[in-house]
Amino acid sequence: MDHFDYRAGVLHAEDVPLAEIAAQVGTPVYIYSTATLERHVGVFREALAPLADPLVAFAVKANPNAAVLATLAKLGLGADVVSAGELLRAIAAGIPASRIVFSGVGKTEEEMRLALEHGIFQFNLESEPEAEMLSEVALSMGKVASVAYRINPDVDAGTHAKISTGKSENKFGIPYDRALVAYDRAAQLAGLDVQGVAVHIGSQLTDLAPLESAFTKVGALIERLRDAGHAIRTADLGGGLGVPYDPALPVPPSPAAYGAMVVRVTQGWNVRLMFEPGRVIVGNAGVLLSRVIRVKQGASQPFVIVDAAMNDLLRPSLYDAWHDIRAVRPRNAQVQATVVGPVCETGDTFATARDIDAVEADDLLAFMTAGAYGATMASTYNSRALTPEVLVTGDQWAVVRARPPVEALIEGDSIPDWLRG
Ligand code: LLP
Repeated sequence: MDHFDYRAGVLHAEDVPLAEIAAQVGTPVYIYSTATLERHVGVFREALAPLADPLVAFAVKANPNAAVLATLAKLGLGADVVSAGELLRAIAAGIPASRIVFSGVGKTEEEMRLALEHGIFQFNLESEPEAEMLSEVALSMGKVASVAYRINPDVDAGTHAKISTGKSENKFGIPYDRALVAYDRAAQLAGLDVQGVAVHIGSQLTDLAPLESAFTKVGALIERLRDAGHAIRTADLGGGLGVPYDPALPVPPSPAAYGAMVVRVTQGWNVRLMFEPGRVIVGNAGVLLSRVIRVKQGASQPFVIVDAAMNDLLRPSLYDAWHDIRAVRPRNAQVQATVVGPVCETGDTFATARDIDAVEADDLLAFMTAGAYGATMASTYNSRALTPEVLVTGDQWAVVRARPPVEALIEGDSIPDWLRG
């Protein structure tokens, strides 16, 4: 559930009409709702209420905006980070290092050093050479790194191939069958405290069954690791829970159903459970607001050309993702149209032959469920400025990332002397 609703025929974010933001900030613009963030954190937490002291570490990659992170920090969330940049963002937003976990297949020595300086809660290691490097870095700093191995359970998450991570052919984690050897070796490495097991099989999961089979494998592994003398104290179950994008499709499992499954499967594990939700926290808390530039009649149907493009919201072109499209002031008429951006690629298409609210030039359209993997995946392709971001709370709103002047793009480059006249 979100807080983007029609009031007197106009789409609002909480108590703020979207047209007011468009008038002052321009379009395209991402708009986030604080009340929706709070609600999602509350629902996720409630689903985990039977667990003792779970660590909910928000997957920063889903939405790294400082104001969004500060909102989540205030609600007590930790952070799952995958780069020095994300680590520094999380800390700058007030997320304590004791709630930060570092994931990712390619951590560099510098990133390890930075994370150790800050004293993060856990490194999720993805290979044995990574364990060896971290051991050396920790030793050189006189520190001990708390680590888990991310296990690749060879489970098909049943989601889009580009966001599946738990099959044996994917680059993530160590092979399940290699785990005992890898843990034995890691336990020999100075500077490492082997405390846990981690798993994450993919994103936008719409079925709990693959998660349950991955978690069941983790449970069996914990037993075997303990039998082999490893004191396993944490289990990080990753993120991945899907959100509803298309109202015509079945609703993905609720956080409550997910929580009930987790409580059932992890009974008796005797560990601190960790979670890395991204999309389920921020997805429905954001929209991308755009303006119709013009409507062009194609050979077979109208094209609605909007001022947002694939550089602002990449998901439709990259994953064939479906985002609901709503007129900010619906005219009570529908039309079948293809909604496209101005970028010079056929893939710059948000919806093909979709029944949408009838629109004219200058009308505002909102792309819904754009709070996760939206602004963060934006680029300046076609020399378009990065999309600004706005955070709403009640009847207040603030620009939380300004639209940079397009001149900044040009000034960012430099022309070497030999090319100057
Ligand atoms: N933990 C790890 C280790 C991850 O790799 C991810 C997401 C998450 C947690 C958070 O997953 P979530 O709860 O958000 O599903 N750009 C794609 C999604 C990529 C997900 C990458 N990893 C999209 O727009 O659909």
